[in-house]
Amino acid sequence: MNQLLRAVRGMNDTVPPLADRWRKIEADITGVLSQYGYREIRFPIVESTQVFARSIGDTTDIVQKEMYTFEDRNGDSLTLRPEGTASCVRAVLENGLLQAGAQRLFYLGPMFRHERPQKGRYRQFHQVGVEALGMAGPDIDAELILMTARLWQVLGLKNLRLELNTLGTPESRALHREQLVAYFNNHHDALDEDSRHRLTRNPLRILDSKNPALKALIADAPQLAEFLDEESRSHFGAVRAVLDAAGVAHTVNPHLVRGLDYYSKTVFEWITDDLGAQGTVCAGGRYDGLVAQMGGRATPAIGFAMGLERLMELLPPAGEEEASEADLYVMGTGIEEKAAALALAEAVRDALPGTRVLCHCGQESLKSQLKRADRSGAAVALILGSEELAAGLVTLKPLRGQGEQRRVARHALTEHLLALLGSA
Ligand code: HAM
Repeated sequence: MNQLLRAVRGMNDTVPPLADRWRKIEADITGVLSQYGYREIRFPIVESTQVFARSIGDTTDIVQKEMYTFEDRNGDSLTLRPEGTASCVRAVLENGLLQAGAQRLFYLGPMFRHERPQKGRYRQFHQVGVEALGMAGPDIDAELILMTARLWQVLGLKNLRLELNTLGTPESRALHREQLVAYFNNHHDALDEDSRHRLTRNPLRILDSKNPALKALIADAPQLAEFLDEESRSHFGAVRAVLDAAGVAHTVNPHLVRGLDYYSKTVFEWITDDLGAQGTVCAGGRYDGLVAQMGGRATPAIGFAMGLERLMELLPPAGEEEASEADLYVMGTGIEEKAAALALAEAVRDALPGTRVLCHCGQESLKSQLKRADRSGAAVALILGSEELAAGLVTLKPLRGQGEQRRVARHALTEHLLALLGSA
């Protein structure tokens, strides 16, 4: 036998019944987003490398170490999207969407980062992302966060906590950065290898370090809050006031800096302790400078993305009904009856559009067809034998304890099925 081929490390298959679950969660999420007036945007999985290099930031881990970048046959540098915001802004500008005013958009699909795979961290992962463009005030920041709180409620997720911070304007950040570099330079000996590296390239990321040995040093570092301008402060205060009024608990984490360079003002993360180290399930913030940076007219914007793998891992294990393949299982005893079974299945699909009808294909005996029907999780088997065919009847065999097997007239079939499905 030839050797089996395997998926790329960190890139997973999603097979039934889990894939059914994914579809349901995606529908639940996009249903909530629609309630807030968000509309779907789709853009390619591959972009020219510039789209990400110019937006996410040259010195970030994503651009430096994690992108799947390659040259295509024309020698153009292309990249598999590591996130959606940059592509979304590119697409919004290219299609002139902002000419029609503010936009509320969402997208979902795979993203690619060459990180070290572990629980909750993959090389191909999936995000639902949301971007609101053209709105500058704190109201949209607050509405976005209220929307995420509603999402957790609809999905039945508990134990998520909200952390917020404000990064202020580019000017206040530059001032802070200067002070931070001076501070860490003064404590150069205490830094670990990674942080020394970050000191020259992206000093703010030192604040993100998970090294316990640096905890005290980081806690004493100059805080951005000391350098914040008045506008950013009041913006942040207004966002928090709406959350307080709506009863959305949150904590301000002055060390929340995010791993992408395009943020300004409000940033936030929803975090759980139930997933180990990869506990951030949803993250985002305001990026008022990005649209101009990508060649558009200066436009305020804010958004977030959530990792679907992480959300899926937080949900309770699948119930039995999620494993079922069908509601009805149709079978015939001989060649003629099997042909009639296919036609019967079509008729049932016409009559009961929301019902999953699986028709047995293959030459198995009635006994093994019934076994297969039982394994499928269907509630009722529909059996066509030669007698049924001749007399215009169908045998219904309830598979989940909804009474005795019975023969019914074809014209009364829908009624009987509805009754049986209702009591399954
Ligand atoms: P991010 O923080 O890089 O932000 O990713 C958002 C979420 O995607 C994370 O909180 C996590 O749930 C999930 N995620 C990220 N990397 C992985 C991975 N390797 N494996 C599994 N899940 C992962 C962004 O991507 C921004 N574009 C969010 C945004 C939208 N900001 C404004 N608009």
